[in-house]
Amino acid sequence: MAKYGYFDDAQREFVITRPDTPLPWLNYLGQDEYFGMVTQTSGGYSFWKDAKLRRLTRYRYNNNPMDNDGRFLFVKQGKSIWNPGWKPTRTKLDAFECRHGLGYSQITGKKDGIEVEQLMFVPPQENLEVWKVTVRNKTKKAQKLSLFSYVEFCLFEALNDMTNYQRTYSIGEVEIENGAIYHKTEYRERRNHYTLFGCTRKVAGYDTARDAFVGVHNGLGDPKAVLAGKCTNSRAYGWNPIGAHQVDLTLKPGAEETFAFVLAYVEQGDLPKFDAPFVINKTKGKEIMAKYSDLAAVDAAFAAVKQRWEDLLSIYQATKVPNEHLQRMVNTWNQAQCMATFNLSRSASGYETGIGRGMGYRDSNQDILGFVHLLPERARQRIVDIASTQLSDGTCFHQYQPLTKKGNADIGGGFNDDPLWLILSTCAYIRETGDASILQEPCGYADKPGSKDNLLHHIETSIAYTLNNRGPHGLPLIGHADWNDCLNLNCFSKEPNESFQCVGDIAGSKAESVMIAGLFLYAARDLVGLYQFMGQSADAARVQGHYDDMLKTVEEQAWDGAWYTRAFDAASNPVGSKSCKEGKIYIESQAWCVLGGAGQTNGRAKKALQAVDKYLYDARYGCALQYPPYSEYHLELGEVSSYPPGYKENAGVFSHNNTWIHIGWTMFGEGDKALEYYLSICPSAKPDHDVYRSEPYSYAQMTASQFSPTPGEGKNSWLTGTGAWSFVVASQSILGVKPDFTGLRIDPCVPKKWKGYSVQRKFRGVTYTISVKNPKGKCNGVKSLVVDGQKVAGNLIPLPTDGRTEVKVEVTLGA
Ligand code: BGC
Ligand code: NOJ
Repeated sequence: MAKYGYFDDAQREFVITRPDTPLPWLNYLGQDEYFGMVTQTSGGYSFWKDAKLRRLTRYRYNNNPMDNDGRFLFVKQGKSIWNPGWKPTRTKLDAFECRHGLGYSQITGKKDGIEVEQLMFVPPQENLEVWKVTVRNKTKKAQKLSLFSYVEFCLFEALNDMTNYQRTYSIGEVEIENGAIYHKTEYRERRNHYTLFGCTRKVAGYDTARDAFVGVHNGLGDPKAVLAGKCTNSRAYGWNPIGAHQVDLTLKPGAEETFAFVLAYVEQGDLPKFDAPFVINKTKGKEIMAKYSDLAAVDAAFAAVKQRWEDLLSIYQATKVPNEHLQRMVNTWNQAQCMATFNLSRSASGYETGIGRGMGYRDSNQDILGFVHLLPERARQRIVDIASTQLSDGTCFHQYQPLTKKGNADIGGGFNDDPLWLILSTCAYIRETGDASILQEPCGYADKPGSKDNLLHHIETSIAYTLNNRGPHGLPLIGHADWNDCLNLNCFSKEPNESFQCVGDIAGSKAESVMIAGLFLYAARDLVGLYQFMGQSADAARVQGHYDDMLKTVEEQAWDGAWYTRAFDAASNPVGSKSCKEGKIYIESQAWCVLGGAGQTNGRAKKALQAVDKYLYDARYGCALQYPPYSEYHLELGEVSSYPPGYKENAGVFSHNNTWIHIGWTMFGEGDKALEYYLSICPSAKPDHDVYRSEPYSYAQMTASQFSPTPGEGKNSWLTGTGAWSFVVASQSILGVKPDFTGLRIDPCVPKKWKGYSVQRKFRGVTYTISVKNPKGKCNGVKSLVVDGQKVAGNLIPLPTDGRTEVKVEVTLGA
């Protein structure tokens, strides 16, 4: 760990101490509509709302070396050229540090007595990023140097930008005014926005044509203008527009200078587009530069970023937790990941190009579970947006573009778990807020323009869809796939150029999913609780009837002897059964049957978890998705059997589904197991970063499992449902602070050795200070609950009725 960096928990930062980490270690900037990704070497890109349709700067994925484009500063001093973030020149530095914090990254590099610090952040509610730059002369002599900034503009639509050079090489347009660079490609036609890149200090020159600044045959490691120590004041006509500034500095011994670069996305709105032919109206751009030319405004904006995060995090903070990994993840990094997944779903990360996927229906619903406490108003809007992409028959667009909020026709629907996740997100929202009025919110169906059917109607449609689309065993039909979108039981693809995800005729298919059955149980039970909360007992009873019916079906049809079968394929053969040669046991059906309440009275739930422990779990990496991995491609199973054994859905450790098992252990009061499992996938607890490779502060979607040739290697960090679910595990299932419809419920499940801990939880306008004590060394059970000195029966803290906003709660474990 110490080899590459460490957690500075007090600052809520991860400090990277050398630039050559095993993979680029990424951070996110922005929380509202303007987003950026930044690595420890200042690689990454920025976009507004939608990484496909409003990409502001370019990034070439899968490059070699990795992570070559970004927000670069070059220093030219004497003969040497270098970057404070080491890349792209990779000139050896005398000192390097990158502090990834919440919503900002600060990179500091030092060479030959000159230190350059670059602090990057997005001010709250603004569509821009600021790089505050400080250059320090740490020597005893006066020093002269030039500092160059560099970004490469993306022509907004990222796919076209990457593929259609016969057009893009002829459309690039810029303007330069007072050293501020305005990237305005396509502005004369249908765009009403531009990108601004300006410097608050007087510049000695600029470049906007990449060929002039970098050179056609040079790379960013040896850009022509930097080598020459001089920008050429080029204006881009087509080809590749960039933004580069030259700042000449003379620093006395010990002196420093601070200034800022601003990269902004500017919507022109109702302002006139042009001042003159080919001259855009720059009123808004100038206002932005004027504002941030005052460095006090820069500092105030940065303070606002920090304050905003502190305010958000103060909603859930745990202290004195006996495990440092759990405490730092639950307090800081896990919540940061929840913010990123909420904002970006699975669209833009080091592994998601921002072009392929927008917001996922199942993904975004689940992301809400870890986000709703932070900004419930935004979760509310998201739930309505997602529901609006459902069709009136209950099926859902599997993805939609965040900019247009329209479903993606390319992928379509037919993923039969999708409808049910809406119930989980809605119930989580109402549990957090008590605001059942969301159920009356008009959403409408995507196939009925102008329709206004409310959210509750969508929820009932989702329940009905699952009930009405069942197969020969009475289990829900799977469609293209369920949560495991690589289990493609209707795909039968022999063509390498087909998409596993959408190919295959699902109409009339018999393939069934036990996982969806379990998810249905969970969702139906949630809905029963919701109807009871609303006093609609007849509806509660009706849905309870469906629950009972599905439970009976699961127990009669899906028990395989020692665990729950995963599915029945198109020929009604079992998948995930002892009768299978490979893929005998899958994790998802164990998880969802248990979470849905199956196996409670007949001992099967416990057996299912024990089977996971025996066949799938490895304390070093977590649980593999299934066992044994498929060694051959199975036409009747699809993509799951396409991956080499031990990776991704073919028996890799797919962290997301591990979290459900963690919850399962807590349902049985197994606090020691729950924490042990929790730590097995926890990035902060990974002992060797040369093996794990991924960021130590962000959950990876998957780790190569014990069944792979490279066990322990983490991949696909940041944008994974593991974010939300791990937060649920740590904050609710282990530490036991659970929002419920009628108040906060206290239901911890911790290791026996834990003596206690405290949680501060802000909930519906009240700050609860909860202190949990475990004098008898138990895992769970609330023996006593004392609320502001009053003993309360059970484990529900009643909502204060007398206007109190501070409530003290003392909990003793061990019923
Ligand atoms: C991946 C899945 C992913 C799917 C989405 C597959 O290749 O293995 O994890 O959900 O693509 O398109
Ligand atoms: C990642 C996808 O985003 C998610 O929707 C899916 O459930 C998992 N992969 C499992 O296949």
